Amino acid sequence: MFAHLFQTPQEPQKSFYVADQGVDAWGQLTPLASTFDHVDHVFYFTMWMCVFFFVLIAAVLGWSVLKYRRVRFDQPAASNVTHNTPLEVVWTVIPLILVMIIFAWGWKGSLDMAVAPQDARNYKATAAQWSWTFRYHNDPGSSLNELWLEVDKPAAFTLESKDVLHAFFIPSMRCKRDVVPGRNQRIWFTPTRLGDYHLFCAEYCGKDHSLMYAKVHVVTAEQYGKRPWDTEDPDPKVNGQRTYEALCKSCHAVAGPNTAIAPSWFGLYGKSEAVIEGGQEKTITVDDAYLIESIRNPSAKIVKGYESAGRMSPFDQGQVSDRKLGFIIEYIKSLK
Ligand code: CUA
Repeated sequence: MFAHLFQTPQEPQKSFYVADQGVDAWGQLTPLASTFDHVDHVFYFTMWMCVFFFVLIAAVLGWSVLKYRRVRFDQPAASNVTHNTPLEVVWTVIPLILVMIIFAWGWKGSLDMAVAPQDARNYKATAAQWSWTFRYHNDPGSSLNELWLEVDKPAAFTLESKDVLHAFFIPSMRCKRDVVPGRNQRIWFTPTRLGDYHLFCAEYCGKDHSLMYAKVHVVTAEQYGKRPWDTEDPDPKVNGQRTYEALCKSCHAVAGPNTAIAPSWFGLYGKSEAVIEGGQEKTITVDDAYLIESIRNPSAKIVKGYESAGRMSPFDQGQVSDRKLGFIIEYIKSLK
């Protein structure tokens, strides 16, 4: 009845968004799709323990209130006992033991999640405001906001951040780890069910945090062997537009004039632009070299009027290869 409250929010801006994976009848957890069932065990152990003690304590309390209530105004107290040491020891030691069990269970699970098995396939996930880039074991290809994994094959991730704190969270896989700038975090899991899953950023990271989303495809070995992440449209503009939508759309408009956040790409190519370079104002013509520099090293030339706007992060080869950069330029050329 309340299941809709627990469903993942829909994202109207992302056309590739998949329908929800379904929640179970209690509205608590998405169906498990990895080998990390210990997460569910700790979760349900904690939940049922709380239910048990809630019912027990509420029942004893209610029964005492009824049984020992004052029925006459001048009725004396039934007992003057204020203290019971054995009872207090019991209700301190039992919860302590239970909490230590939960701690040990969770601690072991957390360690298990950090140390990947030898035969795991390695991936690198790069988080940046506001996208995910994935690179594949011994493969030149990469993918943006979409990830392909082989079913029943352990997948180990190195997590890297280009800017601020993010978090790598795939609820169906029961895996979540902070992505910390300047530090390579590790996490792994073995996907056990074919299908599409959500990957969320679970750490507030700025304006478009809620749109920082990737789709995880768990496919068969045969499908994985076809390297589905390495797809390119014959039209360079279409490829450029895909990269734009994944990486640039949050700030740059492609129709209409400049916004307060960033210059528009509409009619940009070939235009004369007033920029600030090293404190000096100059006028340049927007060409390939300028666009490449603006993506690889955005602070080199700042468009006049944006001196005090938020700075764009540089995009390196890992996120935007030279080939992809060429596609973006073709796309910009087409916007007029
Ligand atoms: Cu990245 Cu929130």
